[in-house]
Amino acid sequence: MATTGSGSLTIALSVFLISATFLLKGAAEIMTVEDQNLGTDNVSVVEGEMATISCRVKNNDDSVIQLLNPNRQTIYFKDVRPLKDSRFQLVNFSDNELRVSLSNVSLSDEGRYVCQLYSDPPQEAYADITVLVPPGVPIIESREEVVSEGNETELTCTAMGGRPAASIRWMKEEQELTGEAMVEETYDRMFTVVSRVRISVTKEDDGVPVDCIVEHPAARGLQAQRHLEVFYKPEVKIVVTYPEGLTREGDNLDLTCIAEGKPHPHRINWLRVDEDVPPHAVVTGSDLYIENLNKSYNGTYRCVAANAVGEAYDDYVLYVYDASTTIPTPTTNPDNTQESRAGDSAPQKIDHAVIGGVVAVVMFAILCALIVLGRYFARHKGTYFTHEAKGADDAADADTAIINAEGGHSNTDEKKEYYI
Ligand SMILES: *[C@@H]1O[C@H](CO)[C@@H](O)[C@H](O)[C@H]1NC(C)=O
Ligand SMILES: *[C@@H]1O[C@H](CO)[C@@H](O)[C@H](O)[C@H]1NC(C)=O
Ligand SMILES: *[C@@H]1O[C@H](CO)[C@@H](O)[C@H](O)[C@H]1NC(C)=O
Ligand SMILES: *[C@@H]1O[C@H](CO)[C@@H](O)[C@H](O)[C@H]1NC(C)=O
Ligand SMILES: *[C@@H]1O[C@H](CO)[C@@H](O)[C@H](O)[C@H]1NC(C)=O
Ligand SMILES: *[C@@H]1O[C@H](CO)[C@@H](O)[C@H](O)[C@H]1NC(C)=O
Repeated sequence: MATTGSGSLTIALSVFLISATFLLKGAAEIMTVEDQNLGTDNVSVVEGEMATISCRVKNNDDSVIQLLNPNRQTIYFKDVRPLKDSRFQLVNFSDNELRVSLSNVSLSDEGRYVCQLYSDPPQEAYADITVLVPPGVPIIESREEVVSEGNETELTCTAMGGRPAASIRWMKEEQELTGEAMVEETYDRMFTVVSRVRISVTKEDDGVPVDCIVEHPAARGLQAQRHLEVFYKPEVKIVVTYPEGLTREGDNLDLTCIAEGKPHPHRINWLRVDEDVPPHAVVTGSDLYIENLNKSYNGTYRCVAANAVGEAYDDYVLYVYDASTTIPTPTTNPDNTQESRAGDSAPQKIDHAVIGGVVAVVMFAILCALIVLGRYFARHKGTYFTHEAKGADDAADADTAIINAEGGHSNTDEKKEYYI
């Protein structure tokens, strides 16, 4: 105990003396050129983890190495630690290296550490310790909950409390967006980064994820996501529910209006362009129903759907044919589904004729086959009974009867066939 105490005292004394010498000599005389034989490395360490500082000497001639903290207090003098902070531990001490670890690094440990070699002239090398602090999980916010198509929205991503300042990237699905970042240093020497990005949305962007990706040397995989929500005006389509073919005088007409939008259309209207809808037309929900078509109903029928974003419509051109019309005369009707439907009827007639012919031929063939078979069985039924009777008379049991029967084998075959 006493020996160690006096040893420490001696070291402390020499530290004092040598430090004093350094001070007297002045900074100007200290050699710090890279290619001299004292060397060290800068250190980056995540807060709370361990840093290792290594003072290396190439060709040491028994000179003393010591390590100082940024306040120029001696951490290690050779393999002895005058500093009380037990987070500093000796990892390796030899003529060529003084390696010291510092555990549970905090931000206050940041700074320029000094390796000193008591050579002639004395040398110094500097190890800058940089403490990294990972930022918190980013928070993504949207200026508005829902955006209307064609409008622009702004997303904000905030990464708080990192050191150094994080950088933020934006991705909309696979596409990289350019954000605008603002960096703010807080009282505790941390950095808060806020990045803004503007996005002009289309209908297709509804539900698309936007990612805010935080890049920082002390953190990996930090990101936040938000799905865009886009309102868009309705898309309208008229479907003819009835009739399937031509619209003839006296027929009924049933049109259905299919309107989709976000939010769901709150209003679906039917109207007739430039004219009044026939007075007896019935509108039920999105359906338009007109009984007993009349040529005077010719015209353009329009379904208009509206929601908060806007309105849209689809047109149906009604063309009422004579009740007797089977094949339509060429028309200027832009909706040519009626023509194409009427055109279908000609090949259908041919199909019926072909099918009829084939059925007739098949029926005839079956009939012929039945007649031939009938005649065959009528003849052989007689033979069978004759053979069986003959065998049974001569034999003692049934088996012998069959064997005895002339062509007994063929008889059994005939028997089978007869019963099928
Ligand atoms: C250590 O970092 C400082 C800046 O902090 C730099 O000037 C110096 O060149 C670095 N030294 C080495 C060896 O990288
Ligand atoms: C110290 O470092 C030297 C050379 O790098 C190595 O040979 C030796 O084993 C180390 N000693 C310890 C205790 O790590
Ligand atoms: C690390 O240091 C902090 C203060 O900087 C302290 O609160 C904490 O208890 C230390 N942790 C360990 C494991 O020493
Ligand atoms: C966004 O869309 C709404 C319609 O939903 C419109 O009233 C508003 O003016 C638009 N805002 C901008 C900035 O274009
Ligand atoms: C069609 O309507 C006109 C007047 O709107 C009417 O005079 C005519 O009788 C109607 N024709 C049929 C077949 O209902
Ligand atoms: C309606 O269309 C039919 C097409 O067959 C034409 O015969 C009729 O004159 C048209 N009626 C009106 C009022 O346009």
